[in-house]
Amino acid sequence: MAAIDQAANLRKLAAEKKDERPKQTKTIAVTSGKGGVGKTSLSVSLAIALAEGGKTKVTLLDADLGLANINVILGIIPQFNLYHVIKGKKKLKDIVIDVPEGIKIIAGASGFHQLANLDLKQRKEFIDEFQTLEGDDFMIIDTGAGVSQNVLSFVVAADEVIVITTPEPTAITDAYGIIKSIAAQTSDKPIRLIVNRCQSVSEGKRVAQRIINIAGQFLNIKVESLGFVFDDPLVAKSVRNQKPFIVGFPKSKASSCVMMIADKIANRPSSEAVKGSGLAGFVKNMFKSDEETILEEPAE
Ligand SMILES: Nc1ncnc2c1ncn2[C@@H]1O[C@H](COP(=O)(O)OP(=O)(O)OP(=O)(O)O)[C@@H](O)[C@H]1O
Ligand SMILES: [Mg+2]
Repeated sequence: MAAIDQAANLRKLAAEKKDERPKQTKTIAVTSGKGGVGKTSLSVSLAIALAEGGKTKVTLLDADLGLANINVILGIIPQFNLYHVIKGKKKLKDIVIDVPEGIKIIAGASGFHQLANLDLKQRKEFIDEFQTLEGDDFMIIDTGAGVSQNVLSFVVAADEVIVITTPEPTAITDAYGIIKSIAAQTSDKPIRLIVNRCQSVSEGKRVAQRIINIAGQFLNIKVESLGFVFDDPLVAKSVRNQKPFIVGFPKSKASSCVMMIADKIANRPSSEAVKGSGLAGFVKNMFKSDEETILEEPAE
């Protein structure tokens, strides 16, 4: 009897110990086939909506290797970025920017190009650096558009991917293209869809259903709709004002849609398939996909 009690106690202790580990951050890559469909605008407002004024911890990683513009939308000028961390000039915590909107920003800039050049020891240090952020609830990764390997490595490394499209036929075709490329690299990535710039609810539903059907029929892939966002002139106005629309115009049509999408992301019951593998897992996966690819020359 005593032996049974002892075993039960040990199990309890082990379970408690497990719970002491920081919660693993869920990483979500936001991408698209066609450029300019609203990835950055939606990523910023979605991250802020998810954070609910800081109740939920959210980091927004600017991984667009082209013109990084999360900072433009937020009206901030980051002094340092991941490049400085990779070069050992800064610690990750020194480059993370806390913005008043209740989220943290990491400027990627040319840093990600440098990952391919790190040796094993440096890679381990970089993963350890990322792990210092572990415990946040979400990391949203704003990527560039298109099927370049750089974009795909973020998508493959993240726990989930959100593909953004608009109702334009070219955007729909390109969304299908990127879903196909993701499916070719990884078979178990949950792919979710947002139709941006819709004129009506029915347009949003129709476009989402079309992509879901084609992906199911021709790729045998389950794509899930996260919802749609109305075409709203206040979004463009917010970009000009350098204030995210969810903050400047919280009652706008676009903001209501983004809040609904954030609720959907936050309230989802976590199943094994969608559990976060954490930040260290994300960076390790990045290295894995790097090893399979020759990245372009670093742009400093
Ligand atoms: N729901 C919307 N209603 C009206 N305009 C929108 C909406 N979403 C995005 N836009 C406009 O589209 C433009 C492009 O948006 P954004 O920069 O977010 O796209 P992107 O996908 O990040 O582009 P890139 O591929 O260059 O990174 C912005 O100027 C923005 O004003
Ligand atoms: Mg962008």
